[in-house]
Amino acid sequence: MQNFVYYNPVRIVFGKGTISSISELIPKDKKVMMVYGGGSIKKNGVYEQVKQALKGYKIVEFSGIEPNPAYETCMDAVKIVKEEKIDFLLSVGGGSVLDGTKFIAAAAKFEGGDPWKILSECAEIESALPLASIITLPATGSEMNALAVISKKATAEKFALCSWKVAPVFSIIDPETTYSLPRKQVVNGLVDTFVHVLEQYVTFNVNSPLQDRQAEAILNTIVEISDDVLNKANDYESRANFFWCATQGLNSLIACGVPQDWTTHKIGHELTALYGIDHGESLAIVLPRVWEYNLELKKEKILQYGKRVFDISGKDSGKTAMKIIDTTEKFFLKLGIKTKLSDYGIDSRDAAEKISARFESRATKLGEKGQLLPKDVKKILLNC
Ligand code: NZQ
Ligand code: ZN
Repeated sequence: MQNFVYYNPVRIVFGKGTISSISELIPKDKKVMMVYGGGSIKKNGVYEQVKQALKGYKIVEFSGIEPNPAYETCMDAVKIVKEEKIDFLLSVGGGSVLDGTKFIAAAAKFEGGDPWKILSECAEIESALPLASIITLPATGSEMNALAVISKKATAEKFALCSWKVAPVFSIIDPETTYSLPRKQVVNGLVDTFVHVLEQYVTFNVNSPLQDRQAEAILNTIVEISDDVLNKANDYESRANFFWCATQGLNSLIACGVPQDWTTHKIGHELTALYGIDHGESLAIVLPRVWEYNLELKKEKILQYGKRVFDISGKDSGKTAMKIIDTTEKFFLKLGIKTKLSDYGIDSRDAAEKISARFESRATKLGEKGQLLPKDVKKILLNC
């Protein structure tokens, strides 16, 4: 096992009817900015629940954080935060709203020039406004992690930041808030959760049986519940289990002491930035092709995953590994997500050229051993 530091300061309040507890968790003297997206919270009753719970607080609202939150929109919020002297941010919505809120929290306190540097140059976040979340979409794990992914419209770029300074003080997870999700977002969330776990688990063996089984527990649970999550309307149990899988999938626990390979996410973010496809869609396209390309390095873990999650084994390890990759792709298709660039009208040669050129200019190396160069990314994308 590799050395690691484990730290996670986020208080989770989980379950039905828990939104009202924000009044016990946010100090009464705070001036709160309630940050939300395009209006889903006004249709599903979450907005009303929050307003009710925040009676007596000074509140300013900021709406319009878009899916794949834009730096430009977040900077509009930063202006208001400064004008209104806001001292607490409350994100109400999906991962995009929360990621936007994390960036706003950091940008409002940033003294190193343009806050875009936090993303483009990994400029250090020395301080940030306190923030909390009411998360309404199981997918990103943002409710219990230090990450935020922000896009810049002007340049069609998408970058992640990582700092525990912007982790939520608390996150409320009420699975009932997910009942209003469009099916497509539920599918995206299932795939995102599954791929988060795979990118921390399917690398090379470092003798980490506990972390492996923790990862497999999430994967097996997703396989087991996905049918109910998708097809049983307003089914509390499956939605609750799905949400907890999503949170556990990217809250740094299963990453302890193991190598990670975020190649699929890194390429996926470029596909979203350049062509506008959803985050979950980009992952379903890229992951199987990354695994095929990296088969020798990943083979042992692919075989373990295939055996323990899909009960696939065989004498010929190469053929068995390919069968497992195929089964993973078929699982994505069964959930209802497409797995080819052409399904979205994207020319693989165009994507391969543009994305490998971007990685070349940034000297990006990917893979669990930093073994994938831009020329490899080009080949992977040509197969997508
Ligand atoms: O904007 P509103 O009106 O709220 O609508 C949203 C949005 O249109 C809607 N929605 C959210 N909750 C709903 C709902 N509709 C009905 N009922 C509800 N309960 O769903 C749409 C998509 O929301 P979004 O927040 O964009 O989805 P998601 O949570 O999947 O977040 C995706 C973003 O997170 C980033 C992705 O790159 C993408 O930008 N990621 C963040 C990570 C992190 N912070 O750790 C890690 C991930 O790998 C990922 O990169
Ligand atoms: Zn993701």
